[in-house]
Amino acid sequence: MLLLSALLFSPFVSAGLIPQLHGHDHSHISSKRLPSTWYQRSDHPVHNLFRRGPATDGIAYAEVGSPTWSAAYPQSTPDSKAMAAEWLDALNAAVTAGSIPDIPVSTNLPGENPTYPPGFDPNGDVVCSATYKCRNPGDIWDAPDGMVGISFDDGPQPASDDLYDFLQSNNETATHFMIGVNILQYPTEFLKAFNMGGDIAAHTWTHPYTTTLSNEDVVAQLGWSLELIHNSTGGRVTKFWRPPFGDSDNRVRAIASEVFGLTTVIWNQDTEDWSLTTGGTTSQAINTSMTGWITGPKSPGLIILEHELSNLSVAAFKAAYPVMKSNNWNTGSLAQIVEGTSAYQNAPSSSGPVTPADVILAATKSNASVSVSGSGSPSGSGSSLGSSNTQQSSQTGSPSSSGSLASAAPSTSAQPSSASSSVRRMGSAALLCLVASLVASAV
Ligand SMILES: *[C@@H]1O[C@H](CO)[C@@H](O)[C@H](O)[C@H]1NC(C)=O
Ligand SMILES: *[C@@H]1O[C@H](CO)[C@@H](O)[C@H](O)[C@H]1NC(C)=O
Ligand SMILES: *[C@@H]1O[C@H](CO)[C@@H](O)[C@H](O)[C@H]1NC(C)=O
Ligand SMILES: *[C@@H]1O[C@H](CO)[C@@H](O)[C@H](O)[C@H]1NC(C)=O
Ligand SMILES: *[C@@H]1O[C@H](CO)[C@@H](O)[C@H](O)[C@H]1NC(C)=O
Ligand SMILES: [Zn+2]
Repeated sequence: MLLLSALLFSPFVSAGLIPQLHGHDHSHISSKRLPSTWYQRSDHPVHNLFRRGPATDGIAYAEVGSPTWSAAYPQSTPDSKAMAAEWLDALNAAVTAGSIPDIPVSTNLPGENPTYPPGFDPNGDVVCSATYKCRNPGDIWDAPDGMVGISFDDGPQPASDDLYDFLQSNNETATHFMIGVNILQYPTEFLKAFNMGGDIAAHTWTHPYTTTLSNEDVVAQLGWSLELIHNSTGGRVTKFWRPPFGDSDNRVRAIASEVFGLTTVIWNQDTEDWSLTTGGTTSQAINTSMTGWITGPKSPGLIILEHELSNLSVAAFKAAYPVMKSNNWNTGSLAQIVEGTSAYQNAPSSSGPVTPADVILAATKSNASVSVSGSGSPSGSGSSLGSSNTQQSSQTGSPSSSGSLASAAPSTSAQPSSASSSVRRMGSAALLCLVASLVASAV
């Protein structure tokens, strides 16, 4: 909570955040009564005439989707031995400060729930594994009464396109927990989500069970995800992450929070829509459970696990959405509905001003009385990234439909050449300042 809580006291953030709740539970109904409405729907071509680029932090980033942009990132499982020294330093500082619980890494067989050594109760206070439905109070499981926090995992994907059109035509905002390698593979869909005002959140780089990873590998999975989102959204540092398979514990959540200022989000209802394409569930079964949740009690509010994985999973949401509205639920992204704030740690919205990460992070140092000046602002030192010979691997980047989502990217042959290793170190400049500040404030 170091970073996040410090941010709350940043003058910029407190002045810039505009709490907004979706209070438009009936607006979509009136919007259907064309042509008497005075506005054009947000997907009308007229909006393209006046579309503004999202505000950036003033740094020139590689064009999203360009070869230079893509080549600067790991193409599969990131090698924590080759990651930025600053990330490791931040982790070590947090460990030294006693902020990261020293509990064992879990183990699992593919597709099975991770388990812990004897003596470590996954439901106990020490481990508190979200896989076992242990709720750490710092995590988000429920929405406020009467509200549905709309979110989708595993994007961007080809099926995302249709979902985004639907969301836009309903003036709806969602949180998109995106997989790093999927962003690399589907940059057009990624930009569409961001430019339409969707909240971009992290779902790790390659979708592992994070409790099975070492501290360092958790940092690499989250660090690369945050750097890619940062460098592809004009400098925004995302605020939320959702662990793949909902697998997190007190160790992993502490790393996410202490090193990267992230809030962990789980869910309180599960459609199992990821298994629609493999016969694990059916559209009818989802319709039945959705109907039960949406027409049931409004306390607590709903955070339903849904995926932008397939046409079928998108269709399940599209079928349920009007029912949410007709049952008078307030809907919105998790940032809007649950937190009433921005989805980003250093920007009030996806189009508003952005405070460069080094400045926003310097704010965290005011307590530690570390000088803000000379804190190494991001430079153009990444200019040689275009010459990277990082392999374009043949991985599909899309989670397999078998439900074994860990196969989102092959975990093999991820050893970087020394060249790509140095590229990776250079590539960490965006979060270097973040981490340097944290280190400075932690020691
Ligand atoms: C869309 O939603 C926003 C935020 O909830 C609201 O301010 C705006 O008026 C809505 N626009 C339309 C066209 O419904
Ligand atoms: C999904 O839907 C889109 C358009 O709605 C279509 O072009 C595409 O072929 C569909 N994909 C599959 C796998 O059915
Ligand atoms: C369930 O299916 C029916 C029939 O297609 C549809 O009218 C209804 O809106 C669906 N409900 C949900 C919650 O998806
Ligand atoms: C700085 O933080 C420490 C612990 O985080 C706290 O005890 C102390 O009072 C803070 N100092 C100021 C000046 O806010
Ligand atoms: C991210 O952007 C920074 C500038 O803020 C740059 O130095 C760094 O190389 C970029 N990272 C990657 C992987 O391209
Ligand atoms: Zn997932």
